[in-house]
Amino acid sequence: MKRGCFITIEGGEGVGKTTNMEFVAALIRSAGKTLVCTREPGGTPLGERLRELLLDPRYRGMAPDCELLMMFAARAQHLEERIRPALARGEWVLCDRFTDATYAYQGYGRGLPLAHIETLERMVQQGLQPDLTLILDLPPARGLARAEARSTPDRFEREQLAFFERVREGYLARAREAPERCRVIDAGQDLDRVRAQIREALQPLLEAT
Ligand code: TMP
Repeated sequence: MKRGCFITIEGGEGVGKTTNMEFVAALIRSAGKTLVCTREPGGTPLGERLRELLLDPRYRGMAPDCELLMMFAARAQHLEERIRPALARGEWVLCDRFTDATYAYQGYGRGLPLAHIETLERMVQQGLQPDLTLILDLPPARGLARAEARSTPDRFEREQLAFFERVREGYLARAREAPERCRVIDAGQDLDRVRAQIREALQPLLEAT
C-alpha cells in the first residue's frame, strides 16, 4: 500500500496555527482521506508528559541540550507509536510542528549547532520527511501580542523578542533550503487569502493520491 501523506504546520507564536490546522484538516477530510491530527512536542501519552516538562516555566534553567534531546525523545516516541503506523496504513498525518521547529527554536533561537540537530534527525527519522510543510510567517511582535492575549506565557513564550526574530529567520532559512517541501505563507494577510494559499499548496498532493 502507498504510504499516506505527511503534512506539517510551522510558525512562531501567535501566527494562527490552530485555526489553520482546522482548515487544513477539513480540506484533507473532505477529499475523503483518513487523517490523524497530532502535535509536537506531544502526540503520545509519553510525549505529552515531556511537553508538560518542556513548557513548564519552573524549568527556566533547562540546559539547551536537555531541551533539544527532550524534543527528539518525544519525536522518537511519536514516530514509533503514531506517525509511522498511520502512514503505513495509508492514512494522512497532519502535525502541528515537527523538526523544522527544532532547527528554528533550538538551532537559530538557542544557537545550538545545526550539525547536532542533523545527527539527531538522521537517527530518529531515518530519512522520513514531511511531504509538505506550511510555514505561517508573521513579524514576531505581532504574533507575540496575539499569543499573550490568549493565556499565561509558557517557558518559550517568556523569551525576548530577539529570540523570536531568530526563530523566524530560522524558519525562512529552512524554507530556502527545501523549497520543494516548504511553503511560506504570509499569516498577516486576510484569512481568506491565507486559506486560498493553503488550498493551492495542498491541491497537488490531494490530486496525486
Ligand atoms: P506550541 O504550543 O506552539 O504547540 O509549541 C510549543 C512550543 O514548543 C513552542 O514554543 C515551540 C516549541 N518547540 C521547540 O522549541 N522545538 C521543537 O522541536 C518543537 C516541536 C516545539
